Parts: sequence; C-alpha cells; structure tokens
Amino acid sequence: MTDELTPETPDEDEQPIKQRKNGLYPGVSDELAASMKTGWADTELRDLEPIEQAPNTARRREALSRRFPGERLVIPAGNLKTRSNDTEYDFRAATEYVHLTGDQTEDSVLVLEPRENGEGHDATLYRLPRSNRENGEFWLDGMGELWVGRRNSLAEAAALLGVDCADVRELAGSLREATGPVRVVRGHDAGIEAALADKVTAERDEELRVYLSEARLIKDDFEIGELQKAVDSTVRGFEDVVKVLDKAEATSERYIEGTFFLRARVEGNDVGYGSICAAGPHATTLHWVRNNGQVRSGDLLLLDAGVETNTLYTADVTRTLPINGTYTDLQRKIYDAVYEAQEAGIAAVKPGAAFRDFHDAAQRVLAEKLVEWGLVEGPVDRVLELGLQRRWTLHGTGHMLGLDVHDCAVARTETYVNGTLEAGMVLTVEPGLYFQADDLTVPEEYRGIGVRIEDDILVTEDGNRNLSAALPRRSDEVEAWMARLTRQRA
Ligand code: GLY
Ligand code: MN
Ligand code: MN
Repeated sequence: MTDELTPETPDEDEQPIKQRKNGLYPGVSDELAASMKTGWADTELRDLEPIEQAPNTARRREALSRRFPGERLVIPAGNLKTRSNDTEYDFRAATEYVHLTGDQTEDSVLVLEPRENGEGHDATLYRLPRSNRENGEFWLDGMGELWVGRRNSLAEAAALLGVDCADVRELAGSLREATGPVRVVRGHDAGIEAALADKVTAERDEELRVYLSEARLIKDDFEIGELQKAVDSTVRGFEDVVKVLDKAEATSERYIEGTFFLRARVEGNDVGYGSICAAGPHATTLHWVRNNGQVRSGDLLLLDAGVETNTLYTADVTRTLPINGTYTDLQRKIYDAVYEAQEAGIAAVKPGAAFRDFHDAAQRVLAEKLVEWGLVEGPVDRVLELGLQRRWTLHGTGHMLGLDVHDCAVARTETYVNGTLEAGMVLTVEPGLYFQADDLTVPEEYRGIGVRIEDDILVTEDGNRNLSAALPRRSDEVEAWMARLTRQRA
C-alpha cells in the first residue's frame, strides 16, 4: 500500500482542525462532509435467493439447538489480524461459524438464543451493517466500505443466509448483561470472549467445540460436491505443475508453489494449507513449506497440495513425481511399495470398519517391505508390535478432510481415532516412506528419498470412492501422464 491510499487528512497547518462532529474526523470541511453524505444511488439488492447450502446450515443449527437446550450459544467468525499498521492478513472465517452459516464475513457472530417457552432456539447472525454515510464512516474510516468493498446489508445477508441478522456492534453489550447459561467457541473473537468472561467456563466451552467438530464427521451431499470440486481443481493444479517442471528446475521449488497457487486462486478461494513442494531430500521433511530449494533432474518431487473452494472445502493430495519423468530403479521400488501400502489402506476404507484399520493395513505392507529389503530385522509382527517401521513411516496414514484439512480435529477419541467409519465420511489415505539424508542405518542410496501418495476417499454405503482417482497413482501411469503433459509443453 502506498501513502496515497490512506484516508486523506489535510495538513493541520493548512486547514483549521475541526471538532469531531456527528462522528466526523477532524480536517474535513462542512461542505465536503455535506457533499459526501448525498448523491449516492440506492444499491440495496432485493429478491435475493438463499445460498445453495442454506437448508443444510439450518439443519446443523437445529441439531446444535437440540444438543444444548436452554443455553445461549455464541459462535464467532473471527476478526481481521493486523499484519502491520493498516494492512491485514487474509481473513479466513472460523470453521465452526462457516459450517453453521455458509458465511465467511469477518466480525460476524452467530448466536443461538434459547426461546422463553423452553423449546429450541432463535438464531441471529450479528454482523456489521452497511457503512454509515451520515457520519462519514464509509469513506473516512479505513475499514469503511469505500476502502474495503461493499458489504451486504443486514436484510441482504438475512435473505442470502436464511438467518435473521442484527448489528454486531450491539452484541458485546447485550451479552454482558444477559443472564442464563451460555457457551462460546473460543479462540476467534477476543472482544466477544471478554464480554462473556465471567459467565463461561473452559470446560463447558470445550464441550461445544467438541460437539461442533464431531458434527462435521459425516458430510452431506453439498459438502461432498464441494470436496469433489476442490479435488478436481487440485488435479488441474498438479497438471499445471508438471507442465512447468523445466521452469522450476531453472529457478526453485517456489515456481511449483506459485504455479499451484495460481490455480487455487483462480478456481477457488486459496490453498487449503501451505503447499509442500519438496524436491530431492526435502521430501523427507514432512511439512516442508519453505519451498526454496533446487529442483533437480534425477530427483523426486513430493508435491502435497490442495485447492480450497470458495465455500472453503479443501482437497489434500500428494503425488511423488520423478522430476525428469522416469523413476530410477530404487525410486520405483520405494514408490511401488508405498503404492501397494496405499492400495491396502484404501481397500480397508468401508462402512463399519474401524478408523484404525486402513492405517494398520498400510503399515503392515510397509513393514513387510522394510523387512524384505533388509532395513529392519523381522519377523514383521515383531516390527509392527514394537513400531520399528515408524523410523521410516513417520506419520499416521490419514485423517478426516473437509472445511479444515485436518478436519474434526477435536472430536473425541471414541468417535474418531477409536471410532468406526460411516458412509459420508471423507478421509485421506496417505502412507509414506522417508529415508532421512543423515540416516546411517540405511544404505547410502536410500538416503534423501521420501515418497508419499495421498488420496481423498469418500466412505460410501458399500465401500469407498476415491475422489482423486483422476490423478494417476501407479508408477507407470504417473510416467505416462507426465510424458503426455510435458509433450504438450513443447
Ligand atoms: N498436507 C498435510 C497432510 O497431508 O496431512
Ligand atoms: Mn497432504
Ligand atoms: Mn493429509
């Protein structure tokens, strides 16, 4: 931002400072203030249709109401975070709020107010109204609509979201005065939390957060459609990357990050997490997001990236690609082992299976390979019992996926990690093998090789569907796909 873009306040020496009048800032002539109040068209949007997921968010609010009868429930979207001065970080609304409203507007707060007759709740979405033109807020305040863009009016938002809307600036005061049991989702809006500080307890608020995390375990049809869109854009993003690997070789991993990001921003809202663009030995660093390394022919590229849709559902996909288009014998041996483990893992994803089953299935295959290659002493059951394979498999084999890349993260152990798969759950299956560059327990040629393959799997009534099946996985299919895409480059 340049200085020209900060709200103009005339030099004190040149103009007498005026008293703040009707909320006006000093340094504005009465004539200019009067001019800025008038001459604006009525832009109110009428006859708006509700957003597509409005019935789904209404059902979620009803279920929430049934779970906490008679209690006031406060679910904030969160606030902007200052980066420096008048520059903010990109805003990303709190997942709990998005799931219950379909909205993503900063400073908003959903409140479920228990009805006086004791039956259910009334939902109100508190949010900023249109900027005030009478007091000059819309052009003199750096967060006014003239600076940051038009907001929906309260009536427009109510029509779009299917929830009554009210001015959020009155909320903290009324929460402070309200009586009766109340819970708030913490961590998003310090002002709202301060207003409730002497009315809430950490334990009760955590129960609300856990409920909302578990409420996302099973995706409805709208959500599955959005996740498929996220995956489809991600597939295109991976294709984009393959086409520019020569440019990445000439520059760095950043070229890969930027290329994928372009697809994410054009087709969706953002990337759902920092893209892991890990060439060569960086592939053995699980969350390599610095992406400032060299991209070299003969090495592997581990690309773990996901597009987030405009409704904030994200994909989470990994492919490990030979940068020059062909795996070496050793790279292929390791890749194929991870592929076999992933196949075993995916086969274990079905309704009624334990959540842990797909992890166990994949780990067994990887342990068998490590024993077969002489990297760890068998038998395989002993390796698995002692967890010795984990020196090279490092992480769990998958997680729930949705609005958050690690979705439902505060669900209770009994409903998630020790729970049972059900139709409508979406999870990743992502085994890997990682041989650190300084691992003296493996032959030298293994060192610095990392392979992960990650797909997004929907549990269906009779098994599963791989939402990311359009992206080749088998080593020979990956090579053929890369050859086709790089031929298009020429
Ligand atoms: N991209 C993070 C993960 O795969 O879990
Ligand atoms: Mn991933
Ligand atoms: Mn993942």
